[in-house]
Amino acid sequence: MRDAALAALDAATDAAALEAWRVAHLGRSGALTKLLRGLAQLPAEERPAAGAAANAAKALLEERLAEKQAALEGTRLGQLAADAIDISLPGRPVAPGRYHPSTMILREITDIFRGMGFQIAEGPEVEWERYNFDMLNIPRDHPARDMFDTFWVDANRDADGGFTTLLRTHTSPMQARIMEAHDPPIRVVVPGKCYRYEATDATHESQFHQVEGLAVDKGITFANLKHTLFEFTRQMFGPERKVRFRCDYFPFVEPGVDMSVEWNGRWVEILGAGMVHPNVLRAVGYDPEEYTGFAFGMGPERIAMLKYGITDIRLFLNNDLRFLQQF
Ligand code: PHE
Repeated sequence: MRDAALAALDAATDAAALEAWRVAHLGRSGALTKLLRGLAQLPAEERPAAGAAANAAKALLEERLAEKQAALEGTRLGQLAADAIDISLPGRPVAPGRYHPSTMILREITDIFRGMGFQIAEGPEVEWERYNFDMLNIPRDHPARDMFDTFWVDANRDADGGFTTLLRTHTSPMQARIMEAHDPPIRVVVPGKCYRYEATDATHESQFHQVEGLAVDKGITFANLKHTLFEFTRQMFGPERKVRFRCDYFPFVEPGVDMSVEWNGRWVEILGAGMVHPNVLRAVGYDPEEYTGFAFGMGPERIAMLKYGITDIRLFLNNDLRFLQQF
């Protein structure tokens, strides 16, 4: 009986099994207890030896049970200790997010124009050919379309099978959209992404941002354009920075100019601009005899390159943390 009980104890591995074992082998109706009670039935001369053996067996089983319970308790405490959380450990640092340099420069640019009374608008990146080109005085056979190497989007076709949707090559289509939807006076800047299907190099990317500017009212002149852009560069680069206007050609302005700022003894072009072409005003239903306007389109990445001394425009979209973490 003792050996069978010890073997059963070996097989008990958790608290519930130990308790069941205790009830079966040492409990009030357990086999050993019954046996001890039965000693009185034995002849007197057999009683002392049988009693001693039974009590020794009982004592051994109790001892082994206590050992086993202690061992089990030990492993439970060990498990609890292993599961414990050390609340005195310093937490793992969370890397702070930061703004992309393009976002930072876009906000800086739009803030300057906001301070001059311009509103801010945004428009679609997938654009109709009509807004990107036709309404900007660039009909389909116009050679100026070569200025804008275009990603066409095969979503819509005209009767001849030609594409009519594209990734906008500039933010200028928003000029037409805004004038079409609103009457003058208009003063608005439009930040946004643009796309060109062209070879990339240190100053050209196939995806980049522009900030378009548009002001239309009675009596707007080229002097207003110059003042606005001078004031912009004064705030962006400081009053000492030299800037330069040159004649340039864009089909949707007349006259057209570009503007460069001096950087390390070089002129770097940052925007195109001009007076809104009468054909563009007519296309949106404005009377060019009554209203005039100026428009500009600037390259924020170019401006960020000048401001922060970035030498390659391709860094903006490389997702290289060594670059991005410097801002
Ligand atoms: N959209 C022209 C470009 O991308 C820039 C521009 C805008 C020029 C507005 C004149 C007026 O090159």
